[in-house]
Amino acid sequence: MTALLETDDLEVHYKKSGLLGGEREVVRAVDGVSIRIRQGECLGLVGESGCGKSTLGRALLRAAPITGGSVRFGGTDITRLSGRSLRTVRSRMQMVFQDPYGSLDPKMPVEEIVGEPIRTHQRVGRAVRRTRVGELLETVGIDPARMGDRPHQFSGGQRQRIAIARALAVRPEFILCDEVTSALDVSIRAQILNLLKELRQEHGLTFLMISHDLGSLRHLSDDIGVMYLGRIVELGPARAVFDAPAHPYTQSLLSAMPLPDPDKERARNRIVLKDDVPSPLAIPSGCRFHTRCFLRDRLGTPDRCAAQEPALRPLPDGRTVACHFAEEAAAAPSRPASQPAPETDRCP
Ligand SMILES: Nc1ncnc2c1ncn2[C@@H]1O[C@H](COP(=O)(O)OP(=O)(O)O)[C@@H](O)[C@H]1O
Ligand code: SF4
Ligand SMILES: [Mg+2]
Repeated sequence: MTALLETDDLEVHYKKSGLLGGEREVVRAVDGVSIRIRQGECLGLVGESGCGKSTLGRALLRAAPITGGSVRFGGTDITRLSGRSLRTVRSRMQMVFQDPYGSLDPKMPVEEIVGEPIRTHQRVGRAVRRTRVGELLETVGIDPARMGDRPHQFSGGQRQRIAIARALAVRPEFILCDEVTSALDVSIRAQILNLLKELRQEHGLTFLMISHDLGSLRHLSDDIGVMYLGRIVELGPARAVFDAPAHPYTQSLLSAMPLPDPDKERARNRIVLKDDVPSPLAIPSGCRFHTRCFLRDRLGTPDRCAAQEPALRPLPDGRTVACHFAEEAAAAPSRPASQPAPETDRCP
């Protein structure tokens, strides 16, 4: 299947002035990322806070400054588009964020909020726009009779539905969902994920779903990308990543995922990583994960980890992993044999 979105060695580096006017420092927020999202598919992107997920997502929509590499959308290189061509491409891509309260203007009625992108991108009269807003609200499960209400009159889950209706307003092909369920209660979270799944099936949408929590990615993702300090460290089919994570970082993220069965939950073998994510101003030498890697410790802290950056290389099952010792990691997974991998639930 052809790729709708593709990046090649994409970089977003921010220059920061050093202390007391000293030398400028560079925040390597996205540091050489190559991904492909096929038409109609969903890539789940996971990693701890500060790993560059949102910056990567925004760079795909040309909403973060690209300092290296390229982005292709629908076969066109959009890295340096500007003016009307950029606006046209942007209308085919939309974003939904974690906090709909922050992104929905509190003073505007829902009719205006959802209708605004239609007014910006399409020349239609008010009556047509109103009908379309009503249809969109119905699509996301909001009573169209409430289109005169303002955001504070809705619950958190309903506000997220309104944000999704707004994103759908110009019939985009691609939607970036950045931590869309992170601020919601567990039960509401499942409803929003189900809504996204239905929309994807009905409209053939292509998604990038970003989350710091692997659990909220497994219902929708065809592929999972694991991001650490600006780079992808593991990328592959969701089932393979969930069933047998090969990078020690992926193993630690998966081990933190609660299991629905209380017995299995009790037996869960959590890997708690030491320290926090290092600053992207000072990325560790060699393998950028080496300062926190339990496998390196288990293998007797090999020098190679601190000296040589591992390339993202394919394993026999088609996954790519950036670890010199991926085979050893995959052979000695963190999860005990008594604790099966959680079921993935892919869209057909
Ligand atoms: N506009 C900016 N200027 C400087 N640094 C930034 C900017 N935006 C993000 N960063 C830095 O880039 C890193 C990655 O941030 P972000 O993409 O938000 O990560 P994530 O979404 O994974 O939490 C962080 O260290 C953040 O502070
Ligand atoms: S290359 Fe070394 S430090 Fe990096 S993940 Fe693999 S074992 Fe750990
Ligand atoms: Mg983020």
